[in-house]
Amino acid sequence: MAIRTIREAGDEILRGSAKPVTEMTPRISAAISDMYETMYDAAGVGLAAPQIGIRKRFFVVDVPDEDGSSHKYTMINPEILETSGEQEGFEGCLSVPGKHGTVIRPMRVRVRAQGEDMQWYEVEAEGLLARAILHENDHLNGILYTDLVKGELLDNDEEEE
Ligand code: NI
Repeated sequence: MAIRTIREAGDEILRGSAKPVTEMTPRISAAISDMYETMYDAAGVGLAAPQIGIRKRFFVVDVPDEDGSSHKYTMINPEILETSGEQEGFEGCLSVPGKHGTVIRPMRVRVRAQGEDMQWYEVEAEGLLARAILHENDHLNGILYTDLVKGELLDNDEEEE
């Protein structure tokens, strides 16, 4: 495993539409392992393939819930099936270092995706996990949270409220 360079806003690769993964290859498998390592190293909760320079439709998320238990998913070729409700909260992105902003997202999402074994599975998520899945899915379509932010983009060292 290795830590990959995270592409930052302004890099064209973050703005394109990523291509479907047609088969699991050693290269994609290695990228997935590296994405977890890179995400943990940067203290993030999600990382999408375009962020490490791969124009393919997959991402990883690992979101702890309130009791600290982890919800870790590798999502390949994800499809958002349904969303409901609304949540407003702060969001950041490893490709936009040092910043955060308020983004309104659905509270709940139902998503299907292929795992690393390329088998389809379905997840119903809410709260922070739903936010993370929708944020990472946006990366596959060239969308950054800064496109959706309500009000100002804030510096992380500024007092929040
Ligand atoms: Ni991001």
